Amino acid sequence: MRIDSRFVKKIRKEFPGAEIDPMGRNRAFLDNGAGTLVALRSAEREAFARIDWSANVGNLFPESIGAEETILEGRQAVSDLLGANGPETIVSGESATSLLFSLSYAMGRGFSGTENVVTTGYEHYTNINPWVELGTMGRIRELRFAEFDLETGLLDLDKLAALVDNRTKVVTVSAASNVLGTRTNLREAGKIARDAGAHFVVDAVHHIAHGVTDVKACRCDALVFSGYKLFSRHGSFMYMRPKLIEGLTPYKVFSSPKHGPEKWEWGTRDQAMFAATTGAIDYVSWIGYPSAKRPPKPGKQRRSRLLAAFKAIEDYEKRLSDLVLEGRGRLKGLLNIPGLTLYGPKDTGGKTGRDPTFSFKLQGWDDRKLSKLLWDKYAIAVGAEDYFSRVPALYKAETMLRATFVHYNTEREALAMLKALNEVAKRKR
Ligand SMILES: Cc1ncc(COP(=O)(O)O)c(C=O)c1O
Repeated sequence: MRIDSRFVKKIRKEFPGAEIDPMGRNRAFLDNGAGTLVALRSAEREAFARIDWSANVGNLFPESIGAEETILEGRQAVSDLLGANGPETIVSGESATSLLFSLSYAMGRGFSGTENVVTTGYEHYTNINPWVELGTMGRIRELRFAEFDLETGLLDLDKLAALVDNRTKVVTVSAASNVLGTRTNLREAGKIARDAGAHFVVDAVHHIAHGVTDVKACRCDALVFSGYKLFSRHGSFMYMRPKLIEGLTPYKVFSSPKHGPEKWEWGTRDQAMFAATTGAIDYVSWIGYPSAKRPPKPGKQRRSRLLAAFKAIEDYEKRLSDLVLEGRGRLKGLLNIPGLTLYGPKDTGGKTGRDPTFSFKLQGWDDRKLSKLLWDKYAIAVGAEDYFSRVPALYKAETMLRATFVHYNTEREALAMLKALNEVAKRKR
């Protein structure tokens, strides 16, 4: 399966917000790093489950049974998305942040205060503060950062390995930086953790929409992602190795389940959140097999369609990224617009490639003012923030502009962004 301009047109029909914003303005939505647009299949499935299965689990009437089935289906869909071993490995939560805090607290119970946690220099604070908190509580001595190369935006994993020692309890990395687009080689990072006898934890929130996620291939102990970065609504999931699900003790109330993923879940579940996630995952699997008349069967069939879908998505996003970086004809790309500094990998090659996330600054421009101009004059939606990341500060910046593409974005939108930046860069200030 190849995503070409005809297929993208079809794909955009799945996203009512892809062309026109709620105020009726035709625009290019490039703020996907902050949260993607919602796929129709996700919203429809959520609405259906919200109305029809609106009851709590554990009773004998249809609404309650339906809610329970919807939750189980959602866990299975997430398991297929992540290449996990089944619904019993999938925990849900309010956000990736809450899930990582829950995990770090539970892990910290077993630490003595002499240990350390090792992470990368490009984490979102969601994957920093849960471990900082363990230091504040006296559960670990140190959180160590493996710093990336400021010039290339790449992380040399030997630097990560050099920080790991026999007191390292957790190695935790993001699958991709939400500012730089840099991908972490998860297999190698996982091996470094395993060789040291440390847990391996992955923050896949930013990367989840951009490529295959495979918890078995990277052999992680836990991995988190959030629905709103995957064409769905808020609400997040954590894959956990069954040994950890059973072996650790999370904060919980007395009567809540003592085993399985439910042991990790606070309060009662919203079945509609699970339905929305199943809808989004089935939407992605459709890209892998667009002639399919109905949703895939859970398990192997869904996983194989998802693998095909993400292969097509990666290939399409790589083509878009090459265009954004290099430009076309007289339109300069981010690599050569005068006065523009691009942070992060300068190409789409290497062992891991990169996510289509581009953070930059234009000389002489305040980021907020430029993002306003891009919106007001050119109808291009990009971010101008710190993205809850320490990365801008490492470049001595408070904020950066950020454009994140996903597979429903078009070449036309990429060219529109470049045209706007080419024009603004030529202006005298
Ligand atoms: C890499 C990364 N991790 C974590 C988060 C936060 O996720 P949540 O809002 O689900 O806590 C984000 C959000 O932007 C992110 O990009």
